[in-house]
Amino acid sequence: MVDGRVRGMAAKWDEAARKNIFYYIATTAWKSEEEFINSGIYDAEKILSGLPPFNPSVDSVLEIGCGIGRLLRAMNDRFAALYGVDISSEMIEYGRDWLRGYPKVQLVETTINDLSMFKANQISFVYSYITFQHIPSRNLITKYIAEAQRVLKPGGYFRFQTLWIRSSIELLKNRLAVFLNGRKDCFTGYFWRIATLEKTIRACGFKEVDIQMKLECKSDAPYGVGQPESHVWCTARKSPD
Ligand SMILES: C[S@@+](CC[C@H](N)C(=O)[O-])C[C@H]1O[C@@H](n2cnc3c(N)ncnc32)[C@H](O)[C@@H]1O
Repeated sequence: MVDGRVRGMAAKWDEAARKNIFYYIATTAWKSEEEFINSGIYDAEKILSGLPPFNPSVDSVLEIGCGIGRLLRAMNDRFAALYGVDISSEMIEYGRDWLRGYPKVQLVETTINDLSMFKANQISFVYSYITFQHIPSRNLITKYIAEAQRVLKPGGYFRFQTLWIRSSIELLKNRLAVFLNGRKDCFTGYFWRIATLEKTIRACGFKEVDIQMKLECKSDAPYGVGQPESHVWCTARKSPD
């Protein structure tokens, strides 16, 4: 069954893609294609940092909310197969054309906010970057965390960035914004309490969980996107047995 909220979000992202596709993907690095590509290289390094090295002739990677494949393009030489899913058909279509010279990368549209096109225990590494921060529902994000756990190979890693709540005022502001704007725009996302986030990741079946609250600022993140100081990075490992 297609969730009305997911269809609404897809329509908004399609509209954004038609307006200015580079801008709505990387709001601080969209003015030239070169800048956009370099921001992908920079962010891809950040996403892979500290993880065990992948084997480029064996390992596979999957991005949730891939846009046109800005990050997958930058990771092309690190993996044998690269997959991206996105709810926006405009993003996927543009991306397939943009990545014509990258035959290992496959972009797929997801219409129901899941990863049902992938088998269980198939993927070496799953990640998501600047996507969950735009999803206005804890349940929908949780669905992706559970799906990532399902499709990962035993011992595989899931790393994602989302946003966290630092005070009660912020919590109220965010819940109000989600209530008022969650269905109208495609930018207002759900902010997590750290304890709830950890509990949710564990409830999805991950036993090893590491959560880092990163205080990013423009000087150490030249292409920094999202709201400074509110990024939280979660790394979870599927049990090896
Ligand atoms: C800001 S862009 C980032 C794209 C990519 N992660 C990058 O960094 O280049 C956010 C992307 O998430 C996608 N998206 C938003 N909600 C989604 C959902 N529920 N499921 C899958 N993709 C989603 C949008 O269509 C858009 O392409």
